[in-house]
Amino acid sequence: MSMKKRVGILISGRGSNMVSLIEAARAPEYPAEIAVVISNRPSAGGIALAQQAGIATVVIDHKDFATRMAFEAKLHQALLDAKVDLICNAGFMRMLTGGFVDRWKNRQLNIHPSLLPSFPGLDTHERALRDGVRIHGCTVHFVRLEMDTGPIIAQAAVAVLAGDTPESLAQRVLAAEHKLYPHALSLVASGAVTVEDEEVTRHHPDDPPPPLFSPALRR
Ligand code: GAR
Repeated sequence: MSMKKRVGILISGRGSNMVSLIEAARAPEYPAEIAVVISNRPSAGGIALAQQAGIATVVIDHKDFATRMAFEAKLHQALLDAKVDLICNAGFMRMLTGGFVDRWKNRQLNIHPSLLPSFPGLDTHERALRDGVRIHGCTVHFVRLEMDTGPIIAQAAVAVLAGDTPESLAQRVLAAEHKLYPHALSLVASGAVTVEDEEVTRHHPDDPPPPLFSPALRR
């Protein structure tokens, strides 16, 4: 029986972070496997890329649903059908309600193109350049109700260079994202990190197991 965590990736667009997760998960020792890719947009370029990689895909067009809750009920069911343990939002541009976020609490990750809590939301590279920051980057965090918030799992820093444009900076940050997301997912899937008091704790391999897996609770 496979001990790998089953992951559902949520996308809305081109899916380059999705591809980086799919590629990382090909390694035999990687602690997660990609069970399904779900897009809320039928036109998302990532769907074809997932299919080419032999991954099951589902399109759940949010426009077909009268309410956010109805859309999320369908999304939740699709994730259950695929027996998903963890969700990775990878350029998934749809706000989720508290009901969905709570059901997947500490099991849903998101990648964002800034060093959170700086620059949540859109146009992060443009805003970083406008504010004159010298260090920019990307963040993988657990999802909470408020957009681009939640306990931080991992970050990568990218230097802002003289003459950078939003496009040139975006390109270097995206390259960092493609390394960071597989790393962050492996930390979560392997149990190397857990969330306590809204903070991510990193466990050394020699540490005693986190409380969730203590012998007392396992009985
Ligand atoms: C990525 O840069 C990701 O960090 C960002 O959307 C892009 C998706 O690209 N996500 C957010 O801004 C979430 N707030 P991709 O589809 O090629 O992975």
